[in-house]
Amino acid sequence: EFHLHPKKLDLASNGPLGKFDRQQLQRGFQVYKEVCAACHSLHYVSFRDLQAIGFSEAEVKAIAKQWAIEVPSVNPDTGEAATRKAEAADKFPLPYANDVAARAANNNAIPPDLSLMAKARHDGAAYVYSLLTGYQDQPAELLKHFPDAKTGAGLHYNPYFANLNLAMPAPLVADGQVTYADGTTASVDQMAKDVSAFLVWTAEPKLENRHATGVAVVIFLLIATTLAFLAYRNIWAGTK
Ligand code: HEM
Repeated sequence: EFHLHPKKLDLASNGPLGKFDRQQLQRGFQVYKEVCAACHSLHYVSFRDLQAIGFSEAEVKAIAKQWAIEVPSVNPDTGEAATRKAEAADKFPLPYANDVAARAANNNAIPPDLSLMAKARHDGAAYVYSLLTGYQDQPAELLKHFPDAKTGAGLHYNPYFANLNLAMPAPLVADGQVTYADGTTASVDQMAKDVSAFLVWTAEPKLENRHATGVAVVIFLLIATTLAFLAYRNIWAGTK
């Protein structure tokens, strides 16, 4: 009873006729880039995929350049892994060198890749939105019944997370944390919605094609059914 079902989230892409709101996806990308990317990878997405949500080729190149890709050699001056600037064809790089580094930075938890998160969790987009806006103090009632559920050091209480306590600190904490390129007011709620919408796209970039196919199939079936019915009437017309 303390673990909550996700809040409702209305997105343009919802429903059988849903289409992406590209302006919103771009804002969501901005939230990913400026907040989530510090810890979470997006490894099934390449920079040039961003053209599908309305970025131009030049914009994609400029975005890619802001990321570094490790190359399999060592910088002779520093002894650190050498890097090059990312290009449009690269996938988004991983934020940590390996799982050990990821755990070391996150109280022994690994921030999961977000590419497919909206599909991996039940009611994924609404879940991400709820999780991001759901941080709160532990209810006294919970502690009374389940003292063992007390949030441990380095963990954070969130009733939308199955375990109730998770290693991710609330990533969206202040209105205006991101300054949106399109001028939309970046309330915490808005940023949470936008990044959730963006993750629907990363998990299913061809959603609109699937919806369009569904519509075409329904229209085809209606026509086929009408023809079959008329043919049936025609064939049996003279029969008593
Ligand atoms: C887990 C989203 C920012 C660290 C998660 C999960 C989601 C998520 C959906 C998975 C929860 C589950 O397994 O069901 C996001 C989004 C972010 C963001 C959308 C940006 C708005 C961050 C940041 C950090 C971080 C900045 C690091 C400071 C983690 C960690 C976990 C996690 C460590 C694993 C938690 C656990 O299993 O206890 N995040 N995150 N996240 N995130 Fe984030």
